[in-house]
Amino acid sequence: MAAARAHWGSKFGFVMAAAGSAVGLGNLWKFPYITWENNGGAFVLVYLAAVVVLGMPIMMAEILVGRRAQLSSVPAFEKLGNKGWSTVGWLGVVAGAVILSYYMVIAGWSIKSFIQCMGWSISGYEAPTKDAFGQFLANGPLQIGLTAIFTVATAVIVFRGIGGGIEAATKIMMPILVLIMLYLVATSLTMDGRDQALAMIFNPDFSKLPASGVLMAVGQAFFSLSLGLGAMVAYGSYISKKESIFGSALWVVILDTSFALLACIAMFTIIYSVPGLDERISGSTVGMLFITLPDLFYTQMPGGIILAPLFFILVAFAALSSTISLGEVVTSLMIDKRGWSRHKATIVCASIIFVGSILAGLSLGAVGPLSNFEIFEGKAGVLSTLDHLAANWLLPLGGLGTTIFVGWYLGKKDTLEELGLTRGTIPFHVWLWCLRIVAPVAIIALLVAVIAGWDFS
Ligand code: PFF
Repeated sequence: MAAARAHWGSKFGFVMAAAGSAVGLGNLWKFPYITWENNGGAFVLVYLAAVVVLGMPIMMAEILVGRRAQLSSVPAFEKLGNKGWSTVGWLGVVAGAVILSYYMVIAGWSIKSFIQCMGWSISGYEAPTKDAFGQFLANGPLQIGLTAIFTVATAVIVFRGIGGGIEAATKIMMPILVLIMLYLVATSLTMDGRDQALAMIFNPDFSKLPASGVLMAVGQAFFSLSLGLGAMVAYGSYISKKESIFGSALWVVILDTSFALLACIAMFTIIYSVPGLDERISGSTVGMLFITLPDLFYTQMPGGIILAPLFFILVAFAALSSTISLGEVVTSLMIDKRGWSRHKATIVCASIIFVGSILAGLSLGAVGPLSNFEIFEGKAGVLSTLDHLAANWLLPLGGLGTTIFVGWYLGKKDTLEELGLTRGTIPFHVWLWCLRIVAPVAIIALLVAVIAGWDFS
């Protein structure tokens, strides 16, 4: 298998595909709304620190493991380590399945927004009522239908194999998404609420950030960069030996983080500028992406009637390139370890995940018992619970396993060779120090702090 492994056509191809996995609903949907809920500033700063100190070194470590082993996650940990280490990979597979089951639901919302925008573009924009989004969330059959469309689309692509056009497609779609995003931000910055929004995002006030908010920021860094579950191990196994791991990882990190910040700037400015909008999002902050942007497109932006549907199609595509990478983590394992055919693996995994999606889709108000229970404080219902479990617990734990494996277990010879660095140089020491000490200590301390119920505020 190793000898025949195909490689990305170029570094650009790898960066676009890995950024396709990283940039998704985590940046456009989740980061803005959790930043809003955690009062911006301090939360953003902790997030950025987590990206630099944990995200970047762990991204390099994951790519390194994949390229060294020329295998995807579980077999890679087994080959470079032993059977025990493959637990890290298995944990990632569970996290992948959990994430997919609710991610598909949110991805379905982008299809709904696309259709809605088509309607507005043809017959004129009409600002939705305050309760419109809540009513949409509580419409169980619609949630399930939209999720089904997305699940089938993902399954078809995963079934055909990751080589079937993912690289080509992301190479075209990602740059278009970047351009529209920049145009969105530039337009939003002409609105009155700009200063208030920028202050909210960039002025830290730590008294407003609880320990659970710190864990959320760290968890979001893992989630947004697609770390902690082996996705980058798999992608790393396809990166050519000639490419620099540092350079590739850096590009992905920069692109992903810029997207998240740009999304916040655009959305918060709109919220502060359009009267009554904060009231419209207050009942369902989770819908912020889908509530705020149409207002900007249709009321402020030249060309908005064309760009609005295009934007939501691209959001759907950004979500799709993420669900594919998650789907690949889950199914490729069943193929490698259970000896299933790709066909069987895709159908079985998609069916199991779809059951989870039905429960998540019905937990937004459609079915009371699924919507109201609370395991994690302030996170009611199946969807929020799964999101919290995966992003804040499973991914940091997976990341912790990777740091210990690469930092302490894997020999320096392997790591130096893969990174193309020389022993004793400063970059290598900084990276190793982050991986061996800073990242594990930070992750463990944070998990313990949250379990013990500490509050830093
Ligand atoms: N990084 C994706 C996002 O921000 O939407 C979500 C994700 C994709 C997480 C793939 C993990 C993963 F393996």
